[in-house]
Amino acid sequence: MTLKQPEDYILAIDQGTSSTRALIFDHTGRKVIEGYKEVPQYYPHAGWVESDANEIWNSVLSVIASALIDASIHPENIQAIGISSQRETTIVWDKITGEPIYHAIGWQSQQTASLAKKLAADGRTKAIKDKTGLVLDAYFSATKVRWILDHVPGAQERAENGDLLFGTVDSWLAWKLSGGKIHVTDYSNASRTMMFNIHDLQWDQDILSWLNIPTAMLPEVKSSSEVYGVTQNFQFYGVEVPIAGIIGDQSAALLGQLALEPGTVKNTYGDGAFVMMNTGDEPRASKHNLLTTIAYKMDGQVTYALEGSILVAGTALAWLHESMKIIDNVPESRQAAMASTDEDEVYVVPAFNGLGAPYWDPDAKGAVFGLSRGTNRNDFVKATLQSIAYQTRDVLRTMKQDTGIDISELMADGGASRNRYLMQFQADILDTPVQRAADEETTAMGAAITAGLAVGYWQNIDEIKEIRNAGRLFTPNMLPDKRARLYAGWQQAVKATRAFKP
Ligand code: G3P
Repeated sequence: MTLKQPEDYILAIDQGTSSTRALIFDHTGRKVIEGYKEVPQYYPHAGWVESDANEIWNSVLSVIASALIDASIHPENIQAIGISSQRETTIVWDKITGEPIYHAIGWQSQQTASLAKKLAADGRTKAIKDKTGLVLDAYFSATKVRWILDHVPGAQERAENGDLLFGTVDSWLAWKLSGGKIHVTDYSNASRTMMFNIHDLQWDQDILSWLNIPTAMLPEVKSSSEVYGVTQNFQFYGVEVPIAGIIGDQSAALLGQLALEPGTVKNTYGDGAFVMMNTGDEPRASKHNLLTTIAYKMDGQVTYALEGSILVAGTALAWLHESMKIIDNVPESRQAAMASTDEDEVYVVPAFNGLGAPYWDPDAKGAVFGLSRGTNRNDFVKATLQSIAYQTRDVLRTMKQDTGIDISELMADGGASRNRYLMQFQADILDTPVQRAADEETTAMGAAITAGLAVGYWQNIDEIKEIRNAGRLFTPNMLPDKRARLYAGWQQAVKATRAFKP
């Protein structure tokens, strides 16, 4: 084995819904530097969430530049780049000019809810679930592609002529990084488009024909860890850095947590919260509206996962700060929750874009219950934080029903997992220990692992196991009666929210 020199690094791009980060890791798995930039979101109509694909790309360029410059690292010393990104978000661009023909339609966006309902009315729900492992919903890319082809004049014809390309964010970034040379995605991202058959591992021709989506616009599906191409120009001063890892951000977190054994479960508390159970080489069908999805493909082996997607988690904290203006910043939510003295009787159901797993109710609207004259801002903040933990319990309960596996520990990561109040309440309401990752870099580390293994920077996963640190354990500390009372209140709140049809 040749030991890498200390000056060799792996660059990981972590492109999330509301921000982009570039992290440089050394051979010991230490984060050397991080570049960070927020990405604007646009809400043209109620329930719509869009972003600008060029702004996403420029944010990537900017964070790479700042990371390299701040750490005084020359691109020659970057051994490989790994890309982890938000999934499902849909971009269609012109193959020649490289210009997106419409905004990126965000995964949270509900603008295609009527298209999803139409597919359901046409009787496609079961076939889509059987083929893709997904619940028929506007969340996934398929109806978003159809929407763009419908709303941009001439787009259908251009797509049929092979002049337009579709990609989720990973695809778009790989295409841009390579100067338009590669149009690829990986199995984890493809499995979220609702166009990919997770059993025969091909784009599904039936679904494509139901939606009249031309095959010519789809990316080639590759493994999550291989050299797809090399960088052109840009920050790299002509250095051709291998683009060697592509993986959906939730899968990247699973990998970064080293949740590699079937039955292990992680929750990433990002803009949404995504609970994933590694189910090994077996796709496990859910009877309770969880998603069967591809975690990654590495070493020629597809690993599947069962996922519960919670659509609003950190987004609810951003809402408290940016829209409600009752906290000055998101971390302050912890102090506010700790200062609350009410009896946990307030419930916030943050169904801003409907409800995700296990309800999948696109029509649900957010609601608050249990207010009294004495309710104050601290109680409101606490209830919002608690909603994240309650939604996680909804998903874990369902996962247990689907698999029969008793989940003995929940691995936690993502921005909101830094909130100690949330982590303790999570352990309490689940009655399950929560093991929080030592650092926030789990997702980026997952991307770094895919790229590092592809180019031999690390030889194998065992080598990586030795360099990952354990984090902090939160153990349950709530009386069973109280736990049962609080959760019963939450279930009533969700029921009442779903019953409200204005
Ligand atoms: O499915 C959407 C998910 O990949 C977005 O992740 O990190 O932006 O919450 P995040």
